[in-house]
Formats: sequence, structure tokens, C-alpha cells
Amino acid sequence: MFAKIIMHRKIIHFMAMTTFEIGGIRQFDPLDIDEVMEICSSSLSESYSKSVVYEIFLSWHEGFYVFTNGKQIIGFLAGSRKTQHDARVLLLATREKYRNLGIGQELMKNFEEKCRYLGILSVRLEVRTDNELGIKFYKRLGYSITSNLPSYYSDGSDAYVMWKPLF
Ligand SMILES: CC(C)(COP(=O)(O)OP(=O)(O)OC[C@H]1O[C@@H](n2cnc3c(N)ncnc32)[C@H](O)[C@@H]1OP(=O)(O)O)[C@@H](O)C(=O)NCCC(=O)NCCS
Repeated sequence: MFAKIIMHRKIIHFMAMTTFEIGGIRQFDPLDIDEVMEICSSSLSESYSKSVVYEIFLSWHEGFYVFTNGKQIIGFLAGSRKTQHDARVLLLATREKYRNLGIGQELMKNFEEKCRYLGILSVRLEVRTDNELGIKFYKRLGYSITSNLPSYYSDGSDAYVMWKPLF
């Protein structure tokens, strides 16, 4: 019994430590804009202005999340609500140093959870046709390629539209 209590305390202590050290997901706050812009410019091939990112936030507060490690923002996801039943992931990136730790996946799952809660039926997104890691990442999360958008990006690159039903 005693051993069980000690074990239990150790687990709680570990959980508290990791929560403190790792941080977690929270909604975007306008004060986060500079850090988010930093991630945009270091991780995304398309360039976005501060005002565009801020407009995305204004258009749908509930669809914009950041992942923090307690000290800084290490990833973010910005979505939009296309119609009452469809949402879209507009921007998703994790700082290079923090990739392959499950942060991108957590941001996506959190976003999908929120969408389900709001009665949204599906999520769509665009990804560069040459972003093999991104495509693999989304496929693993259950997204399928539904169409191709020629010259979608400003440098003339094509995009795949990927889509996932939420129910
Ligand atoms: C795409 C992107 C957001 C993924 O972010 P991430 O935080 O690395 O994502 P995850 O760690 O959840 O998943 C990445 C991979 O690590 C794996 N992984 C997840 N947790 C892991 C762990 N604890 N240990 C090792 N690998 C892990 C996942 O299985 C996934 O593998 P997959 O590519 O085979 O699916 C990130 O690579 C990025 O910012 N890329 C540049 C911008 C970009 O391409 N954005 C998306 C298209 S617009």
C-alpha cells in the first residue's frame, strides 16, 4: 500500500515537472505574434506578413493555437472556418529544433478535437506537392489527397488539397 502511494506521488511529481518543463497547447494571444512570425519565416517556404497572420486570428480566434515549452513558443497552428461544417488548416509549423517530438501531431489533434466539438464535419488543408515529410505527416493523421492546385504558391509551385472527415 505504502509503496503504491510513493509510486503514485512519483507519477504526480513527474507529471507536474513535465507539464512545467514542456508547457503545452494554449490559444494564441496577440502578444505571441512576434514569436509566431519568427517560426513562420524560419519554417514556412511561403512568406506571410504580420497583418495576414493577425487577420487569420481575428477571423477565428478558436482556431489558432500555440505550443509552448514554458519559455517560448515552439510550434503553432492557425486554422479558419470555411463554412459551418468545414474547417481549414492554414498554417502549421514547429521550430526545427523541436521536430519529431509529437508537437505537430498534438496541435493537429487539438484542432480536430475543437472542430468536432463545434460540429465541424471535415478539415481540409493545402500542402506543397514536393513537401514529402508534410504529406507523410498528414497521411499518418488520416488525411487523403483529394485534388491538385496548379501554381498555388507564389513561386509557382503546385499544392495538393488534403482532406479528412472528422466523424
Ligand atoms: C510538418 C511539421 C509541422 C511536423 O511537426 P512535428 O512537430 O515535427 O510533428 P510530429 O513530431 O508530431 O510528427 C513528425 C514525425 O515525427 C514522428 N514522431 C512523433 N512523435 C515522435 C516521438 N516522440 N519520437 C520520434 N518521432 C516521433 C511522427 O510519427 C511523425 O512521423 P511521420 O512524418 O512519419 O508522420 C514540421 O515538420 C514543420 O514545421 N515543417 C515545416 C513546415 C511545414 O511543412 N508545415 C506543414 C505544411 S504547410
